[in-house]
Amino acid sequence: TKIFAYGIRDDEKPALQAWEAAHPEIEVDFTGELLTPETAELANGADGAVVYQQLDYTRASLEALAAGGVKSLSLRNVGTDNIDFDAAREFGFKISNVPVYSPNAIAEHSIIQMSRLLRRTKPLDAKIANHDLRWAPTIGREMRMQTVGVIGTGHIGQVSINILKGFGAKVIAFDPYQNAQLAAEGLYVDTLDELYAQADVISLYVPGVAANHHMINADSIAKMKDGVIIVNCSRGNLVDIDAVIASLDSGKISDFAMDVYENEVGLFNEDWSGKEFPDAKIADLIARPNVLVTPHTAFYTTKAVEEMVHQSFDAAVAFAAGQTPETVVEY
Ligand code: COI
Repeated sequence: TKIFAYGIRDDEKPALQAWEAAHPEIEVDFTGELLTPETAELANGADGAVVYQQLDYTRASLEALAAGGVKSLSLRNVGTDNIDFDAAREFGFKISNVPVYSPNAIAEHSIIQMSRLLRRTKPLDAKIANHDLRWAPTIGREMRMQTVGVIGTGHIGQVSINILKGFGAKVIAFDPYQNAQLAAEGLYVDTLDELYAQADVISLYVPGVAANHHMINADSIAKMKDGVIIVNCSRGNLVDIDAVIASLDSGKISDFAMDVYENEVGLFNEDWSGKEFPDAKIADLIARPNVLVTPHTAFYTTKAVEEMVHQSFDAAVAFAAGQTPETVVEY
């Protein structure tokens, strides 16, 4: 069995080496390059490709992979929004992802950002760095005083809810697919509109599928409380960023944390030190004291990276053995 991996970063290599040592019977080869029609031939002869990229898995890339005999695509991440599924079907690809590499990684980050906004740590840190050690006007708000609206109660949403309960926040949730235990606890509201009307803080944990595109827009923001706080550690396309910027300007949204951005490809995980940002909106958002921007780092923990590598390789090997891994993506 041979597995070829694309886009392997230096920080993934220890996990990759550990997996290889535990699976001496599997031939592994990898590149730091992403999967494109041009790099597809690097995988020629492999049974499966292990991949992670934000770049689209296009028809051309999948066609070229299939031409080299590759039969499966195992993503090292959760999101599958960048796969051309029609093409994957046409070329007969088996697909897996890593849906639960570490829900805590993203959940913790989202709640950390939420609490940073409530305690106004960005302007406070700036003051302190400026030798201004006065309290006012940087007064905070307490988590237990907030009604937090959790949109999406999958693995990450559930861990987030548990953390929020520890803080003593009042949690309400919306998900068209309700979790039995959360339902028994009476956490769900029936409609997003109800959540928008009641929540002081809204945090998103839903996938970036077409149906959720720009769910946070001028119309939905208008239904929210004045001074609402919004946290998005899920997918950039959930948010109409122009509507958010306008609402930050008007004060309708008091604070905003974003770990994802619709135009993040080529922007996040790049070094812009000493240079201007190529994107005026991100420059504006980063400059605001009431906005926290992190460059898609919610997932980025040692535990998550290890799980992403190990589970994706396990799935690729299962496919090659004619088995269906638990992490198969049905499409
Ligand atoms: C995902 O797992 O879908 C993510 O968003 C994390 C990715 C940047 C590795």
